[in-house]
Amino acid sequence: MENNNLDWDNLGFGYHKTPARFVANYKNGEWENGGLTEDDTIVLSECAGVLQYAQTIFEGLKAYRTEDGRIVTFRPDLNGERLENSAKRLEMPVFPKEKFVEAVVETVKANADFVPPYGSGATLYIRPYMFGSNPVIGVKPADEYQFRVFTTPVGPYFKGGVKPLTICVSDFDRAAPHGTGHIKAGLNYAMSLHAIVTAHKNGYDENMYLDAATRTKVEETGGANFLFVTKDNKIVIPKSDSILPSITRRSLVTVAKDYLGLEVEEREVLFTEVKEFAECGLCGTAAVISPVGKIVDHGEEICLPSGMTEMGPITKKLYETLTGIQMGRIEAPEGWIKVIE
Ligand code: PLP
Ligand code: COI
Repeated sequence: MENNNLDWDNLGFGYHKTPARFVANYKNGEWENGGLTEDDTIVLSECAGVLQYAQTIFEGLKAYRTEDGRIVTFRPDLNGERLENSAKRLEMPVFPKEKFVEAVVETVKANADFVPPYGSGATLYIRPYMFGSNPVIGVKPADEYQFRVFTTPVGPYFKGGVKPLTICVSDFDRAAPHGTGHIKAGLNYAMSLHAIVTAHKNGYDENMYLDAATRTKVEETGGANFLFVTKDNKIVIPKSDSILPSITRRSLVTVAKDYLGLEVEEREVLFTEVKEFAECGLCGTAAVISPVGKIVDHGEEICLPSGMTEMGPITKKLYETLTGIQMGRIEAPEGWIKVIE
């Protein structure tokens, strides 16, 4: 398969089939070794657990082309660990994180021609996932599962790249207390589809979800965690048991403290505090750090002082340091970069 019809500089966040994917099956209580295949299709029973009761979990990470031409991934061990936690919560067998990293490396190597060039702004998105595959009709976990990894070259998640976003406070909840908001389960995203379609119809780029119990605290968006900057340059990050523990956000905490010397507070954030902040960003693998310029709560506008034309200065420093680490321009903390080739 050739990659020469791809326009790296203008790629959106979409699916482009690449040559190879990894597949491993779980049957009779154990995982087979698994391996690469060219077959991008899946044939399933009409009654497969994933189709009936949404028993599916996934991960998202990226492979980057560095300035000196290597291919690397960023902290894949943490994605492997999070997939283990997601599996436990949905009564699925754990796919061991060491094997997860091996499968990611193998898949990226086999699709190396599809890792976009350094400087293009595009990357190779990696999507590991796992689902219940045998027939299940009573409500119970499946007995058989499939773990897969595919890749797709992607550009920015939000159209317009780093242009500040306008988001709205959603009337819908994404995750319940003691529910599944803290794991990466397909069901959380199915929940958010009506909310995101509604937000787009109303002219917003994304939703801000509040905590379902009191609707007073900031949680996250459909696909990224929040990061705020105070007027005295402190980083504030919402803490909640019902948001996804973003690897980007956890890495930004280290970047802020150890590389930029900033103070970081991880705590509950009341929505009423948001109008006091100087900058706001959405952080995640797909979002990287996407700046937010305006937050609208039922017609009431909060305009962040960083404005609607560019990233705020602290958000920009965080963005440049993080992407510098990922693309090999800045030395990474030990263990953060997994060199593929
Ligand atoms: N929150 C949600 C709901 C997400 O889907 C994602 C994306 O993975 C994130 C946060 C960011 O997590 P990470 O930085 O690990 O990609
Ligand atoms: C990611 O950032 O990897 C995600 O899974 C988020 C999704 C909205 C694309």
